[in-house]
Amino acid sequence: MNLKKLLAGSALVTGLALFSAAAVAEESVEVLHWWTSGGEAAALNVLKQNLEKEGVTWQDMPVAGGGGEQAMTAVRARVTAGNPPTAVQMLGFDITDWAKQGVVADLNDLAAKEGWDKVVPAALQAFSKYDGKWVAAPVNVHSTNWVWANKKVFDDLGIAQPTTWDELIAALDKIKAAGLTAVAHGGQPWQEATIFDAVVMSTGGPDFYKKAFIDLDPAALNSPTMVEAFDRMAKLRSYVDDNFSGRDWNLASAMVIEGKAGVQFMGDWAKGEFLNAGKVPGQDFLCFRFPGTQGTVTFNSDQFVMFKVGDDRKAAQEKLASAIMAPAFQVAFNKVKGSVPARTDVDGSDLDACGQQGMKDLAEASEKGTLFGSMAHGHAAPAAVKVATYDVITAHFNGEMDSKTAAEELAKAVAAAQ
Ligand code: BGC
Repeated sequence: MNLKKLLAGSALVTGLALFSAAAVAEESVEVLHWWTSGGEAAALNVLKQNLEKEGVTWQDMPVAGGGGEQAMTAVRARVTAGNPPTAVQMLGFDITDWAKQGVVADLNDLAAKEGWDKVVPAALQAFSKYDGKWVAAPVNVHSTNWVWANKKVFDDLGIAQPTTWDELIAALDKIKAAGLTAVAHGGQPWQEATIFDAVVMSTGGPDFYKKAFIDLDPAALNSPTMVEAFDRMAKLRSYVDDNFSGRDWNLASAMVIEGKAGVQFMGDWAKGEFLNAGKVPGQDFLCFRFPGTQGTVTFNSDQFVMFKVGDDRKAAQEKLASAIMAPAFQVAFNKVKGSVPARTDVDGSDLDACGQQGMKDLAEASEKGTLFGSMAHGHAAPAAVKVATYDVITAHFNGEMDSKTAAEELAKAVAAAQ
């Protein structure tokens, strides 16, 4: 080899080395999510930091709006433009809908290498996989049938944890009579629907919840039991303050945290707000199942759907998926987020009292067959049906129709959305 060739070759090698160093340094993921409240952002930081330790830069794409409806609109725009983010926070049937479009990645190699099949429960795999392929990495399991209460308010007024609807109403009456807002509520359709999950379960029990929300049986949707569930929503409406309309859920949590209100009916992401404010379960606040739903769990799981991206972004995407599934991360993240790990093989003994109860309730409900997907959070029926229920629940909550009409409208709206 002559000198010229040798020099050219070594220049090429040096060039390649430089190029790959730059590629590693520039590995980045763009993540679209709706975790914008204090507690949610704190939880997301755990993931960001873990990835940054791996040399992956985090490009944040937050789209505010609890429940993720606005975020889903943003995803649609990006995917339609042919420029999907690396990963998107998503719920249940939304994942399946995108997988059907053929725009999501195939994570099977990574899943096989890391043994996801053995550690993710079937109820979550139903959404993480499509057509035998892993397309999403589940980060947690939340549930919607919880009550978050200010402990001092309960103690001062001599209120014991209510376990039945009547006890709940007696407790709310006492809080209202003391001049406080009994129910901290944010008047947004998804928040009303979140409460409805629990009210339907409490009013009709697990078989009714399944018939109405999973099987979408018209006879259950338009039934005396559903009318009663709507009556109960109207009753709860009488305990909210005058400024509830449009309020974000985390501001409603703040009312309970600050002792201005007694309770909030909300999924366990609310716990993230209490923790973020330095509050301690059992000491400053109470968590208990919505009265009448003990022994049942209406769940939702946040998953990160990986979209099909160019080869230059695949390595970082796999690192993200792997970081989400790491056992230590699942515990660290869920301690902050308020949810419980999506993996069944991790040690949850480190979670606080509410987290421990969440894990125990989930295992028991799964065993007994009383674990159902949340309608409000996309795990009972596809998005079109979910949104159709939101409209009726909110119109009724705002007094636009009586309970009998609401049940009729619910059955009609669900039928039309399928
Ligand atoms: C998500 C939670 C989130 C909540 C409020 C739910 O749909 O599963 O992770 O904290 O919405 O934004």
